[in-house]
Amino acid sequence: MAQKITLEYDISEYSPDKEPFYVDVNGETNIFRTAYQENLPVMLKGPTGCGKSRFVERMAHELNKDSKTKFPLVTVPCHEDLNADDLKGRHLMNGEYMDGPALVSVKSGGILYLDEIVEARNDTTVVIHPLADHRRSLAIEKLGKVYEAPDSFMLVISYNPGYQRKIKDLKQSTKQRFVAINFDYPSPDVEKGIVEHESGVDGKTAEYLTEIGTYLRNLKGKGLDEGASTRLLINAGKLIKNGIEPAQACEIALLNPITDDIDVYQDIRKGLEDVVQNFFP
Ligand SMILES: Nc1ncnc2c1ncn2[C@@H]1O[C@H](COP(=O)(O)OP(=O)(O)O)[C@@H](O)[C@H]1O
Ligand SMILES: [Mg+2]
Repeated sequence: MAQKITLEYDISEYSPDKEPFYVDVNGETNIFRTAYQENLPVMLKGPTGCGKSRFVERMAHELNKDSKTKFPLVTVPCHEDLNADDLKGRHLMNGEYMDGPALVSVKSGGILYLDEIVEARNDTTVVIHPLADHRRSLAIEKLGKVYEAPDSFMLVISYNPGYQRKIKDLKQSTKQRFVAINFDYPSPDVEKGIVEHESGVDGKTAEYLTEIGTYLRNLKGKGLDEGASTRLLINAGKLIKNGIEPAQACEIALLNPITDDIDVYQDIRKGLEDVVQNFFP
């Protein structure tokens, strides 16, 4: 019996009627397009929940719109056990070779998006480096073949250069193969529109949530490792839209997820309550 190996990736095929909603914050759309045309691999740097994955989905959609032949976006959520073979593929019990996500995207000329690359095992650099420099190739030793990436292929990685990076960091030899686009939470006026669109709350509520988000972000370092992301503001909006009281919605969507430290929690909770009360009397 052939044993099925489950690889952690999904291929989202282009679908013209489903344009991912994305608001350009700082000209990143144009930069990404230029990098794509010049066959430059791209690194997206920024905190969690600030729009990196959504941006890649939108760009894959836009680039497909311009392209005669359609190609997939292959997203790999990296984790601490992910190794080079997980990306390249492996032989099944019946001898058949099952292509891994890197091989799938090279063969199909797709966009390979390695999300949170820093989590992956070090040996994944044997896959990443040749795909990220002039070689643009993938060697599959087990098949005795080297695959050249077609022009439409692009490598994109994301990483969060946050507080953990003292423990885990990318090697310079990896970093220096990419152009890097810095992401951050959008400015309040832009973020307001995003929260409104994504959660379905009205403009005023969205604006207040962004203000509350700014308040929490300013506490970063004072006990908080990361501020409340755009994603969390959207979650709070979804709760409020469905009738959950703003004070409770903000506590469970914005505060509870970002700290496990009971002292920090108690400190911040009172301040947050006052701020929420101020906007939602
Ligand atoms: N610039 C943006 N335009 C549209 N939506 C955004 C933007 N930034 C963040 N979002 C919203 O925030 C959510 C979280 O973003 P995501 O791309 O998953 O973050 P990341 O990959 O950086 O962790 C998205 O699902 C989307 O709803
Ligand atoms: Mg992401």
